[in-house]
Amino acid sequence: MDKSELIEKFMSNNILIDNDGLSFLCSTNYNINNFISACIAADNLFLDKNSVEDFLKTLDEKDKKQEQKTTIQPSISKPSTHNRSKDYDSSVIVHSIPEDNTIPKPKNVNSFSGYFADRYEKIKNILFNRPSLKGSRSLNSITQTTNDRNVSVIVMINSVGTSKNGHTILEIEDMTAKLTAIIMKDKLIGQNMLIADEVVGLIGSLSNGTLFVNDIIFPGIPKTFRKNHITDPLRAVFISDLHIGSNEYLPKVEERFLKWVNGTSKDASEIKYICIAGDVVDGVGIYPDQKDDLKIKNIFDQYNTFETFIEKIPDHIQIVICPGNHDAVRQAEPQPPFDSHYFPTISKFRNVHLVQNPCSLSLHSFDNNPGINVLMYHGYSFTSLNNAVPDLRKHGISNPKFLLKELIRKRHLAPLFGSTIITPKSSDDLVINSIPDILHTGDLHGFCIDSYENKIDLFSTSTFQGQTSFMDRVGHTANPGKVIHENLMTRQIGYETFY
Ligand SMILES: [Fe+2]
Repeated sequence: MDKSELIEKFMSNNILIDNDGLSFLCSTNYNINNFISACIAADNLFLDKNSVEDFLKTLDEKDKKQEQKTTIQPSISKPSTHNRSKDYDSSVIVHSIPEDNTIPKPKNVNSFSGYFADRYEKIKNILFNRPSLKGSRSLNSITQTTNDRNVSVIVMINSVGTSKNGHTILEIEDMTAKLTAIIMKDKLIGQNMLIADEVVGLIGSLSNGTLFVNDIIFPGIPKTFRKNHITDPLRAVFISDLHIGSNEYLPKVEERFLKWVNGTSKDASEIKYICIAGDVVDGVGIYPDQKDDLKIKNIFDQYNTFETFIEKIPDHIQIVICPGNHDAVRQAEPQPPFDSHYFPTISKFRNVHLVQNPCSLSLHSFDNNPGINVLMYHGYSFTSLNNAVPDLRKHGISNPKFLLKELIRKRHLAPLFGSTIITPKSSDDLVINSIPDILHTGDLHGFCIDSYENKIDLFSTSTFQGQTSFMDRVGHTANPGKVIHENLMTRQIGYETFY
């Protein structure tokens, strides 16, 4: 392919690359299709030589981490089955590599400022690729002028308030200055969904040091983003919140699920991947007097029972497991993967992948195909976030599709600080930096299948536990026994009911 054809190929994907950038890329022999897919996923749409070089370094680092991951291949013999999906290779590439905590680092105010600076920079880079924000200026530079009719800025919101006349008052800041912005009440530009600590673009006019906002640009996803498809007829299954050990655990749901997974139906015979988004057990001491609600009162016995469940899943199916807030790992997010001492048996299985929460991963990614990118997040932030935003609260926490869409629109899994416990460190791992094909969440024990602009599948997965008094207290309503699955080639979604 000559250079003009390559430029055409980039342009057809709405990526602008200059001549020097293209020459440099060609000199590296990097696979052009993979590079374009990675650019779209990372929202990297304007490229010169320097940005190509930087991006290739990032991709190389990712590749190295993947190699590290794939070198850990413990194995133990398990009975095999003869389902159709067994005939295909599998691949699970984990992009979210947990921080090395072997040497504890001190946490102080600087840790928090670094954390928020990283959030701002990551989402600013996403917003800067939006055409209307290309000419964005720093707050410090616009405060040098008194009046300006056409100003665009990328800011973090410090606070959202309402004037006595009903106008929205925003306190905004970037790395250079702070400013007050006003959205007049007659403008309906999405101000009801704004919350503190999120990063947005604002377009408006500056008058006597106040920004009057005419438009809000949320990061969202670019129009160029396209769904990935794999080329093999394979299926992924999405579950969460088993809550093994609870008095309300539903063994019939488990039994029917395992019968289906081991069965010979067309859908079941295509299963190659199972993602489990946390709360695999009910835990111990998660809330006061929990012991009265527990059938299995010892945490190791709970995890041992979960291991028995996993052992009944055929070994040609790759199983990805992240923890939730009921699990025995650090509660601050990102939560590290399960320690192997809870899983002495399945941690040695080649088909079991213990990952952090949240976790970005690619299923069935091979040289000629990026696979399907899944973002798993247990969802501890959801209840607080839903309660904090009136327009979300009116839909109720049992109907989380609006909430999940808002997470993608804000490109953050817990945009409101305090909605979940975080580990202050130099990077904010809850920013949705790469665009997933599937956002898989749990925690609410409801059930929801939806999509963001028909491009990102949004799943809030069900539970293997009935309604509990604890759920009554936190306002969750169980919709147990629903299991979501998706054909990764056709991207058709289905679900089973086992309750
Ligand atoms: Fe749960």
